[in-house]
Amino acid sequence: MKVVVARTLPAAGLDKLTARFDVEIGGLPFDRDWLDAHAPGASAIVADPTVPVDGELLDRAGDTLQVVANFAVGFDNIDTDAVRERGLRATNTPDVLTNATAELAVALMQAAGRRIVETDQIFRRGEWVGWEPEQFLGRELHGATVGLVGFGRIGQRVAELLAGFDVELVFTDAHPMDEAAAKYGARRLELDELLAVSDYVSLHVNLTPETKHLFDAPTLAGCKPGAILVNTCRGGVVDTAALVDALKDGPLAAAGLDVYENEPAVPEELVALANTVLVPHIGSATRVTRDAMASLCADNVIAVLDGEEPPTPVV
Ligand code: DGY
Repeated sequence: MKVVVARTLPAAGLDKLTARFDVEIGGLPFDRDWLDAHAPGASAIVADPTVPVDGELLDRAGDTLQVVANFAVGFDNIDTDAVRERGLRATNTPDVLTNATAELAVALMQAAGRRIVETDQIFRRGEWVGWEPEQFLGRELHGATVGLVGFGRIGQRVAELLAGFDVELVFTDAHPMDEAAAKYGARRLELDELLAVSDYVSLHVNLTPETKHLFDAPTLAGCKPGAILVNTCRGGVVDTAALVDALKDGPLAAAGLDVYENEPAVPEELVALANTVLVPHIGSATRVTRDAMASLCADNVIAVLDGEEPPTPVV
């Protein structure tokens, strides 16, 4: 059977696939023409967040195709309706990246709150004039109210990591999450209520038609003055132009971002702002996590092609 890896996959997953199948690897950067040319006859396609999987690609693969395995927990790059309509399976890689992504969210809270990147740059430019009593003042997590928008796996892990900071935790979620709320001492609020009280707002939702631009100008205007926004989920959840305005004119004091609307492009206005900490979609970028994701991704392919239920299906 042929497995087409649209870009590339760490050896922890690739080796499992090459041991069993004829594997064709697109390489980097993503080349849609290559994928279109190699899809016919594939039993599985391995995709990632940068690889759009639409009905046209599925049809191009033909009736050999059984599964699209995403090397990511997010699967907004996959047209799941098209997968379902064709009776195919799609899988993702949840759980194994929860901690890495949650740790990055906390790191961005601290980096933005304590102005770590801004002051590092001032220091490197040789502009530091020496210690002053009211220089570079930031804010602590201790005593802050942290609003988690989305209280699934990653949101809950952030709550757990913050336990030592003595924060007040509030969250929004489509589900009541009573058990998790009790476990982490978090209060469920409506989004407008959460924004009004949160010193830090951290986003942990999937990108769907409902969450696209959930943080637009009116929503951002409802943030508490001086709030810090952290986004490690998907760039499309935030309207970038509105975010720039909220960072320039308030109410936001700062933002820590790992994800962007049109990656890898990042608007110049965002880059120019000293009150942003910008990292290039590194939420899951640790050796141990990427290996675990690759391994799980391969396990999903193998299970489906062996006629078994995949470990982590989305369709
Ligand atoms: C995901 O898994 O969805 C991340 O964005 C990439 O690790």
